[in-house]
Amino acid sequence: MYIVGQEEIDALAAVIRSGALFRYGVGGECERFERRYADYLGTRHVALTASGTFALTAAVTALGIGPGDEVLVPAHTYMATAMAVLAAGAIPVIVDIDESITIDPDALEDAVGPRTKAVIPVHMWGAACAMDRIMAVAAKHDLLVLEDVCQAIGGAYEGRMLGTIGQAGAFSFNYYKNMTAGEGGAICTADDRIAERVRCAIDPCHFYWQGRSDQQKPFAGNGARASELIGAMLNVQLDRLPAMIEAMRAEKKQILDSTGSLGNLGLKPAPINSPEHDCAAQVMYSLPSAEAADRFVEVFPSVIAGKTGRHNYTEWDQILIGEGAAHPVMNPYNMPENRDCRRAYSKDMCQRSLDILNRTVMVSTHPLHDQQQIADTIHNIGVAARVALAGMAPAEADLRNVQPVDVQKFDLKVTDIASA
Ligand SMILES: Cc1ncc(COP(=O)(O)O)c(C=O)c1O
Repeated sequence: MYIVGQEEIDALAAVIRSGALFRYGVGGECERFERRYADYLGTRHVALTASGTFALTAAVTALGIGPGDEVLVPAHTYMATAMAVLAAGAIPVIVDIDESITIDPDALEDAVGPRTKAVIPVHMWGAACAMDRIMAVAAKHDLLVLEDVCQAIGGAYEGRMLGTIGQAGAFSFNYYKNMTAGEGGAICTADDRIAERVRCAIDPCHFYWQGRSDQQKPFAGNGARASELIGAMLNVQLDRLPAMIEAMRAEKKQILDSTGSLGNLGLKPAPINSPEHDCAAQVMYSLPSAEAADRFVEVFPSVIAGKTGRHNYTEWDQILIGEGAAHPVMNPYNMPENRDCRRAYSKDMCQRSLDILNRTVMVSTHPLHDQQQIADTIHNIGVAARVALAGMAPAEADLRNVQPVDVQKFDLKVTDIASA
């Protein structure tokens, strides 16, 4: 959660006072948000739902992905990306990331097989995937592209809003995201047919509320409607978003400009794709070794990407043990249609990704950081770099005004960082 204040309280109170908490027929907040967010993104459709996980599931379903299909997902993402593939009866295939800590376009192309139907590039920690190269691979191999934008709301790639480059994009509005309603999710697409199918996946009765269409045969779906409380809160959060992203980009630029000379010691900015357009929620550095990264965070509370538990494939228990559904017959790993899909996983299958992640350190920005806090962060990065890379004794580290790290957001063990 970045900024929540009186405006959100007023918007929620107004909905509660009106008694119109249901989106269809009585309330107008969800619909208003969907229109405004589609305009903001520069696309035709946005459909709200109850979570980012369900947004991904609805999008995978709407794209027609199912048993017999493989979907390529990166080794570093929240496990929901892969779970959404299983929910549709398809098989996730895990692909290496590169130093940008997003899916590696070369590894992606190498991973395409006869069963591969789609790829889900995940814009991690606010940083964009290499979308031009990914779209080129997708076009060459006739793959669908669903962007997972859950962690990168407000970000863009070379001027195009994230989520609008592939056939569809999925967003999360949970507590930790750039816009939040506590929980919530959305799908965007420019394709009318995909939009219609997404709405059917979100609410099997959607045609009842919105009118039947001759173009679309309904299918059975789970209910995951958003409430008017989610819509109302997001309408306020959307007003805040542009200034928030601008502030984080300015902070990131200031930190990178001021720490550029530390490259001589070995503290190099991670090679982010489209660096002018990302959300700038994190300043990322690639260190020469995992040991140096450990020393860095032991001095200055910050985050090693490889230690963010649930975001690494090594922690996706259900996948590693092949439990793709609650019932064995519904388990995609047992389905005869998936016999020829690649279904073998191991904890060391993406060693290159683990190596990169264990060398990547992230320092969080925040839209409310003032100049003094930013100057202190720059100072602290310098001190940590000298300890990690230039032999300075930790006892000599004179840190200033250290901001705490959000242990839950990054799924850290308290022992992994200097102080929580
Ligand atoms: C990359 C990514 N994908 C999907 C999700 C799932 O979103 P939610 O928690 O709203 O279900 C998240 C949320 O943490 C995420 O970070």
